[in-house]
Amino acid sequence: MKFLVLNGPNINMIGIREKAIYGTMDYLAIIAMIEKEAQKRHVEVVFKQSNHEGELVDWIQQAYFDRMDGIILNPAAYTHTSIAILDAIKAIAPLPCIEVHLSDIHSRDAFRHHSYPALGCLEQIAGLGPQGYILAMDHLIAHCHQKNQD
Ligand code: DQA
Repeated sequence: MKFLVLNGPNINMIGIREKAIYGTMDYLAIIAMIEKEAQKRHVEVVFKQSNHEGELVDWIQQAYFDRMDGIILNPAAYTHTSIAILDAIKAIAPLPCIEVHLSDIHSRDAFRHHSYPALGCLEQIAGLGPQGYILAMDHLIAHCHQKNQD
């Protein structure tokens, strides 16, 4: 199985930015942790991060052409604005996508409560910190196994 772990704007600043909200573990440490957990599960993970909406759309499309098995997506601030990212997720259906947020977006500012990409995702995981990515990976693995049995 091969998954894309795609992070949006300012996720490269995790560990530096708003530590009280996002914690102190930095982006590279989060990636290393996901990579380690992926290896334990015999899953291949490819990491991408961009501060640019169109580049995120490009990589979602590329995941389809690269025949990836799923996407773990933290669209960051584009969560709350991007119909383009939602459309990209819908365009590559049924390739499964799970949305992850480090913070609990539902207990923060009202403008963070709504997610466009979530409308095209299997589920949204929020507020578990970096562990949310691991939970998303486990859910994607289970989803892919289930799909292979159908
Ligand atoms: C975030 C939540 C978003 O509202 C915010 O814009 C981010 C990070 C999270 O992981 O908690 O940049 O996606």
